[in-house]
Amino acid sequence: MDHATQRKWDNAVRGYDLMNGHGPERRWAPWKRQLFEAMEGKVLFLAVGTGQDIQFFPPGREITGIDISEGMLAHARSKAERYDGRLELRHLDVHDLDYPEATFDQVFTSCTFCSVPDPVNGLRALRRVLKPGGTIGMFEHTGSRCFPFSLILNLMTPLTRRLGPELNRDTPANVRQAGFVEVRVEPVYLDVVKVIRAVSPG
Ligand SMILES: C[S@@+](CC[C@H](N)C(=O)[O-])C[C@H]1O[C@@H](n2cnc3c(N)ncnc32)[C@H](O)[C@@H]1O
Repeated sequence: MDHATQRKWDNAVRGYDLMNGHGPERRWAPWKRQLFEAMEGKVLFLAVGTGQDIQFFPPGREITGIDISEGMLAHARSKAERYDGRLELRHLDVHDLDYPEATFDQVFTSCTFCSVPDPVNGLRALRRVLKPGGTIGMFEHTGSRCFPFSLILNLMTPLTRRLGPELNRDTPANVRQAGFVEVRVEPVYLDVVKVIRAVSPG
């Protein structure tokens, strides 16, 4: 367990739902809902945070939600109890997944790989637990290809990194580097956020 990252996110819990639960979640709702609609089979959801994403999960699915922060998970539990399906929450670092190889049919992430300290190895860890041909669906903050947002994100990142996320990461490149194939990228909001879909070749 990466305790420095855990502490950083435990400290970010206070005010998280207030800051993110209204504007950003309302704006992103259609994309998240559409992405999660494809959930099928045994699903791993990284990182469930305070549970903001649970409202967008389709009913009746079998989902394991993990997060490195106990503080975040404590807020997610009541939302998880209201989910109309099977939703288990576990305190886990993506780098220390204790599942056997090829456990899951699908993996989903939401605003996660701007935060995981070693994104390529984190993505490789997800590939290990995905079945051959299994899919990953991601809704992620990334660097933008649109000026001046590219510049703004580069300037903001040294500050945001201290609090949690790095806003200018090239997550599609990291997904390819981790060995995923058939990588499809859909830009959202001036390319500041992206929906990324890819397949694990096994
Ligand atoms: C920006 S929050 C996003 C939470 C949630 N998906 C949302 O959209 O509200 C990033 C989350 O990633 C989690 N996280 C960061 N590094 C992690 C790791 N190595 N393993 C598991 N979770 C991690 C943090 O604890 C935090 O809950």
